[in-house]
Amino acid sequence: MRSLLFVPGDSPRKLEKALGVGADALIIDLEDSVALSAKPAARECVREFLTRAKANPGRPLLVVRVNALDSGMIDADLDAIMPAAPDAIMLPKSRHGADVQHLSVKLAVREAENDLADGGTRILPIATETADAIFGLHSYAGSSARLIGLTWGAEDLAAALGAEANRLTEGTYADPYRLARALTLFAARSCDVEPIDTVFANFGDMAGLRAECEAARRDGFTGKMAIHPAQVAIINEVFSPAPEALEHARKVVAAFAANPDAGVLNLDGAMIDRPHLKQAEKLLKRVGPA
Ligand code: COA
Ligand code: MG
Repeated sequence: MRSLLFVPGDSPRKLEKALGVGADALIIDLEDSVALSAKPAARECVREFLTRAKANPGRPLLVVRVNALDSGMIDADLDAIMPAAPDAIMLPKSRHGADVQHLSVKLAVREAENDLADGGTRILPIATETADAIFGLHSYAGSSARLIGLTWGAEDLAAALGAEANRLTEGTYADPYRLARALTLFAARSCDVEPIDTVFANFGDMAGLRAECEAARRDGFTGKMAIHPAQVAIINEVFSPAPEALEHARKVVAAFAANPDAGVLNLDGAMIDRPHLKQAEKLLKRVGPA
């Protein structure tokens, strides 16, 4: 998943539009972008949209962001949408692996009720939205086979910390958010799931978005969430591996395949060893079989 576009679940117009913007995944939102009074109508709107969108071949992955476990609303969210079989659920304000297990049980019940494959609904937590969540990042490993990625959030975290701002005046994140971002990357890699970078809210600033995407790719993130359709093309471009990088990765894999007993090899005058092979295999895994 390179691009994951947030779409408010109470906007049929944006939902319709979102299908055609080239995002790898849509995050259909029932949480923060939907007012309390609009939640019941939004649940119906999302169910109807999922049913329609699922019939569409070549559709993006359909993820629904439900309300948090402690919101008192998550069961009504799941009851409304699970009959339409979303591909995945985004869990906001997730604090640790036990929250994923808690959601997993709720999903298993609805899967059984709706004749869906057991364990088929995947989970994507936002893993840094509360202060205690930072200390739970180590606990996602082994929590559930449903886990497909981990992502982080800076807005709710700033509110949780009582911060005045989460970015410095020149635009880079302040230390607490840089820590949350880096720990999310470590945690996702330790679980062997996708590290997904958080949204870039200033949707008019394309240069800023591109710079943040490039920094995320450099560090190991495989994709980024978006809030506006105009952000999708840039995210897809930056997170698509360059043809030269893919060609190099295939050469590294081929060199070790041809020399299975070698620890270190000479590839076009440069040393390659096991970490290079691992890196090459990770890159190729992202694009699938050639
Ligand atoms: N998904 C699908 N379509 C979207 C969209 C989105 N996230 N954001 C904007 N659009 C559509 C608009 O409806 C508009 O289409 P239209 O002219 O046919 O109606 C077009 O793209 C251009 O939008 P624009 O006028 O530039 O922005 P806006 O003022 O309509 O919306 C936001 C700005 C921020 C309210 C909107 O982008 C949005 O809702 N983003 C998602 C917010 C969200 O889900 N937040 C939660 C996670 S942080
Ligand atoms: Mg939020």
